[in-house]
Amino acid sequence: MKKEISRRNFIKGTAALTAGAALMGLAGCAEEKTPAPQEAPKSKHVKVAVFSPTEGTKNAAAMLAAKFSDDVEFADLTNATSRTEEVTFAAEDLAIVAAPSYGGQIPMIEGLFTNLKGDNTPCVVVCAFGNRAAENVYANIASIVSKQGFVVVGAIGLVTPHVFASVAKAGHSRPNVDDNKIMAEFAGKIMDKLNSGSIEAITIEGMPEIDFAKEISAAPKEFKAENCIQCGACAANCSTGAIDPQTLEIDETKCINCMRCSFVCEYNARSYDTAVKRDFIEGKLSAKKSVEYFI
Ligand SMILES: Cc1cc2nc3c(=O)[nH]c(=O)nc-3n(C[C@H](O)[C@H](O)[C@H](O)COP(=O)(O)O)c2cc1C
Repeated sequence: MKKEISRRNFIKGTAALTAGAALMGLAGCAEEKTPAPQEAPKSKHVKVAVFSPTEGTKNAAAMLAAKFSDDVEFADLTNATSRTEEVTFAAEDLAIVAAPSYGGQIPMIEGLFTNLKGDNTPCVVVCAFGNRAAENVYANIASIVSKQGFVVVGAIGLVTPHVFASVAKAGHSRPNVDDNKIMAEFAGKIMDKLNSGSIEAITIEGMPEIDFAKEISAAPKEFKAENCIQCGACAANCSTGAIDPQTLEIDETKCINCMRCSFVCEYNARSYDTAVKRDFIEGKLSAKKSVEYFI
C-alpha cells in the first residue's frame, strides 16, 4: 500500500533536536555561542528515516538534520511494526537515512529501509558508530536506497555513545561541539552542491551487501524475573519482533542484540552484562575518532 508520511511515526524535528541536544549536554551551550564556520543555508524540507534501538543514532541524525533545515520530520523505523508502511519522499525533499554500525555493517534485518520510496530524492547517508568504525554501513545503506528512488549525494559517520561502554568512554558525550562544527561544514557543502543544480550520486567504497552470516559479538543478556511486571514494553518495542508478547520469551534466532529491550524496560528486568565488552572496548577504543564525511 502506498501511503504518505504517517504522522504517527513522525515527531517534529525541533522537539527531537531539543531532546537530543539536551541528552548530549548541548542545549543552549557553546554551539549557539560559537557560530559554526560554515552555516548551511536552511531551506530544504528534511525527512529523516532512522533505525536506532538505543537512540544514539536518532539524536546524532537530529543534530545533523538541524544543520540543513528547521523543518524536519522523522520516520523512526526501529520497532518491527513501524516498518510495514511505505514512507514516501518528494523530489524536493532532502532525505537523511541513518543506522548504527554493528560489526561494521547495518544491523542484520531483512528489508531494513526497503519501505522508503524516493522520487529522485537527494539523500544523505548517516552511520552512527561507537568510536570504532563505520566500515560498510555507508555502502549498505546506499545500495538499498539507490534502488528505491534516492540519489546519495553524501555520507557522514558520526561518533555516538558505544552501548557497551560506560559514561565518558568510547563515544560518550558525542556528538560534541567540534562534531557539530563538522556537521555544519558538511551540510554547507551538500547544500552548495544541491543549489548548483547537481544531484549526482557519489561513489561509496565498501561492501554493499549485508553479510547475514557474520558473527556480531554481543554482551550476554540478563533477565530478572522478580523485577518484571509483565508490562510487555520489551515485546512491543523489540526491533525484530523477537519477544513473544504473551510469554515474553526471546527467540534467539530473531534477536540481533540491539539492547532495545533493556533500553525500554523501566523495571530493570531486562539488561545486558556489558562488563567484559566494556573492558575490551574502553581499552581498545579510548582514542577519540573523528567525524568522517564523503561528498
Ligand atoms: C551488537 C552491536 C554491535 C556494535 N558494533 C559496533 C562496531 O562494529 N563499531 C562501532 O564503532 N560501534 C559498534 N556498536 C556501537 C553502536 O554502533 C553505537 O552504540 C550506536 O550508537 C548504537 O546506535 P543506537 O544508539 O541508535 O542504538 C555496536 C553496538 C551493538 C549493539
